[in-house]
Order: sequence, then structure tokens, then C-alpha cells
Amino acid sequence: MPKINVIDRSGASTEVEADNGLSLMEIIRDDGFDELLALCGGCCSCATCHVHVEASYFAKLPEMTEDESDLLDSSDHRNETSRLACQVEMSDALDGVTVTIAPED
Ligand code: FES
Repeated sequence: MPKINVIDRSGASTEVEADNGLSLMEIIRDDGFDELLALCGGCCSCATCHVHVEASYFAKLPEMTEDESDLLDSSDHRNETSRLACQVEMSDALDGVTVTIAPED
């Protein structure tokens, strides 16, 4: 099964099994990372699932919608590898990616 590495806000890295077809948000949340609040449940309306994606994988991600980009603009911690984890579907192309939970806004 594909895996991702999750870096939490303390800097700790954890390898997590990742089912294809789930969003990165669902994978991270369901593995018990409470700091990824995902308050809207994946509707692209809260930005509390903000993550930074390992740069070498960023080009493999599905394209960002305008709504996602607008929401990310509301974060003080947006950078060039920012995504909303609920908007990124896991696939074999992302096997091994490291995803860092963004600091709280
Ligand atoms: S869970 Fe709310 S925007 Fe991703």
C-alpha cells in the first residue's frame, strides 16, 4: 500500500499508510493527527487542513482551483508548496511524499 510521511507541528515525522482515492486530509485526520482540524469536513471552505507538500512532488498534484487558492491566501503561512489537504487525492504518484502540517493561523 502507498505511504506518506506526515510531519506534525512538533517536527515529528510519522509514516502513514495511504489508500488511493482518499484525500490527504482524510488520511492524516483518520490516522489521529488532531492538529489537522479539517473543520469543514473537506468542503474547501475552512483552510484548517493546510499542508506544505514536499517540493519534488508538488508538480504531480491535481491542479489547484481558484477557491482553494483564495482560501490559502487567508493563511499567513502560505508558501509555494501550500495545498489544502482535502483537495488532494492520494494516488500512486504520491507514494512516499512528505507532507508537513502548516502552522496554525
Ligand atoms: S477541510 Fe476545510 S478546507 Fe479542507
